[in-house]
Amino acid sequence: MSSILLVTGSTRGDDSLSNKIARQLADDLSAKAAGSAVVERDLARDPLPHIGADFSSAIRLQPEDRTPAQAEAIAVSDGAVDELLAADTIIISTGFINFGISSIVKSWVDHVARSGRTFRYSENGPVGLATGKKAYLVIASGGIYSSGPGTTLDFAEPYLRSVLAFLGISDVETIRIEGVAYGPEAAEKAISAAEEKARELARAA
Ligand SMILES: Cc1cc2nc3c(=O)[nH]c(=O)nc-3n(C[C@H](O)[C@H](O)[C@H](O)COP(=O)(O)O)c2cc1C
Repeated sequence: MSSILLVTGSTRGDDSLSNKIARQLADDLSAKAAGSAVVERDLARDPLPHIGADFSSAIRLQPEDRTPAQAEAIAVSDGAVDELLAADTIIISTGFINFGISSIVKSWVDHVARSGRTFRYSENGPVGLATGKKAYLVIASGGIYSSGPGTTLDFAEPYLRSVLAFLGISDVETIRIEGVAYGPEAAEKAISAAEEKARELARAA
């Protein structure tokens, strides 16, 4: 049975454009693959803690040498890693916040990028271990960053693509809902274009 992991990172609930398009994509992909399950990681509802001292020390220790607090920090991370590794398809959605991804999505990245679980170092450099997956990025922004002068300020899509490639996921598609701050007409156009692109990608999957 195929599994879709839907990671949502907007705190705007039903008003969120990235949540809306990501949810549509997840529904369309799961309708297409009969019997597929959607596992939802709603980071606004259940934010992962920032990685702290316990996490940073625990990743260098054997399980039996960890304090209860260190074991708990790793258990939280392991839960997120297990979900990622179990998924065939990953949808990551985020608002574009101060030129990058939302901090709750960054926290998720910090928990899933785990040496020995999702990547390892070899003599030839890092090797991604989360292979055989397809990822979709859904990014909503007030301005435009996919073309024009804004591209140099885009620290969201290139960052997410780099992290995913590091983990072994390089089959990545992006849906933008952009320019939504340029007035209601521009926002409507951006939403319709994103809905159409999500439908196209689901058809092509
Ligand atoms: C705190 C904050 C920072 C933002 N920073 C940017 C930004 O740097 N560039 C931009 O184009 N839009 C920015 N926006 C606008 C959001 O990207 C836009 O509202 C988007 O629709 C949010 O995603 P969502 O609808 O999924 O919540 C910001 C919004 C907030 C609340």
